Amino acid sequence: MQFSTRTSVNGRARAGCALLPVVAGKDLTAGGKAIDATHGGRLAKALRTGDLPAKAGSTLLVQLDGALPRVLLVSMGEAREGGDKSFGEAVRGALKAAGQLAADDAISLLHEAPVAARDTAWKLRAQVLTGRELAYRFEVLKTKRESQPVRPRRVVLPVEAAESGVAARAVAQAGAIADGVQMTRDLGNLPGNYCTPTYLADTAKKMAREFGLEAKVLDARQMQALKMGALLSVARGSVQPPKLIVLRYQGAGARQAPIALVGKGITFDSGGISLKPGLEMDEMKFDMCGAASVLGTMRAVAAMKLKINLVVVVPSAENMPGGRASKPGDIVASMSGQTVEILNTDAEGRLILCDALTYVQRFKPSTVIDVATLTGACVIALGHHHSGLFSPDDALAAELQEAGREIGDTCWRMPLDDEYQEQLKSPFADMANIGGRPAGSITAACFLSRFAKGYDWAHLDIAGTAWKSGANKGASGRPVPLLTRFLLARAQG
Ligand code: BES
Ligand code: MN
Ligand code: ZN
Repeated sequence: MQFSTRTSVNGRARAGCALLPVVAGKDLTAGGKAIDATHGGRLAKALRTGDLPAKAGSTLLVQLDGALPRVLLVSMGEAREGGDKSFGEAVRGALKAAGQLAADDAISLLHEAPVAARDTAWKLRAQVLTGRELAYRFEVLKTKRESQPVRPRRVVLPVEAAESGVAARAVAQAGAIADGVQMTRDLGNLPGNYCTPTYLADTAKKMAREFGLEAKVLDARQMQALKMGALLSVARGSVQPPKLIVLRYQGAGARQAPIALVGKGITFDSGGISLKPGLEMDEMKFDMCGAASVLGTMRAVAAMKLKINLVVVVPSAENMPGGRASKPGDIVASMSGQTVEILNTDAEGRLILCDALTYVQRFKPSTVIDVATLTGACVIALGHHHSGLFSPDDALAAELQEAGREIGDTCWRMPLDDEYQEQLKSPFADMANIGGRPAGSITAACFLSRFAKGYDWAHLDIAGTAWKSGANKGASGRPVPLLTRFLLARAQG
């Protein structure tokens, strides 16, 4: 689905379909009224039937003729001024309904509907992101195409001449974010026998060539030289060699400290010797969604040419049982020098991340955010709506929360008090890699906090948000929108 802006159509819309907002259950907006006027008031008449439910996202199809054969009247909800939620529902309902029609192209005036505290750019972006989400297919591994072709293929968003510059930029930025989300979903959906650490590294190198980024991939030998004993311990049971992927984007002066994103890249998490139960184990191919999201964010940032410096670091491995695999009770030395007793080989994410958090210090970053499908406990705590946010830094936490709310990819702050650190005590090493059942996502974050030294740090646990289970199983692309929005704000600020 392709989106573009143009200046107002003044009632003379030419398209297979027009998506027109209906406010407060009955009123057309200015652009809708102009179209109605050139079509003999047939839209107002259709509305008077009462056939359009007031619920946001409801639609009523009206047949017109000539250059505009049909219109979808789209309910924006009962209120005169909508909120983020009702606008989102309206956009989703409208684009889904439009997808059922034979129209190849559409013109949308949904952004004429008022939304509290949101400007045109925000409303345009919401349409692009939702449209691209709905148009997403992952069928490269099917030999026969099963889904309907994407409709409408093109969506035109008319805006006032005075807003055309801002609007075009908003649509271009939303397109870059959608491309990043798409890359993240593709990588997430790709199964473990395709998406190995080597595949992730090759994908990163390819993106680096495309966008002029600096790329570096460390192999096991180089990790050994850096004494990354924790990261290496996770890869031991697998025949797939581990990789540490580093991408650097320089959009600001060389003296400006970079922001670093670190993404968990476990391309399959069997649990290792602490083997997971069989039920839904296939979903552990998604255990590299943190990695995929930081790569997708890098793509969006590079495409938008943001004036920031960004480093992306992805520790990647496959967690398998095997004759060489780490065993419960094994003690390994991390790159930081701290020793870890591996009480459960299924708590592997923190083991690869801790060495990456130490490694990233060499870039002298101002801020580091790690992103990981880290704990099942986070899914129990927050379900599938909010990502878990952990940070000792109130200002950074607030920035991330605000970015998420703004773009509808939210996170919820969880506690990180020192009291929880007690649970990581080990009689034999500096710490254990698990803290028992209570507060499992918090003790995981506490573990990471011991390595996140020398910069402002936040951790996003995306175990509940990175993918959907069930019949429509698949990667969501989160938190690419949240991260990109955060970086956009940093670039402007
Ligand atoms: N990748 C999993 C976390 C996970 C589980 C994400 C389910 C999404 C859904 C992680 O490596 C893991 O296995 N964590 C363990 C930690 C435990 C052993 C302390 C968990 O959550 O059970
Ligand atoms: Mn695990
Ligand atoms: Zn895992």
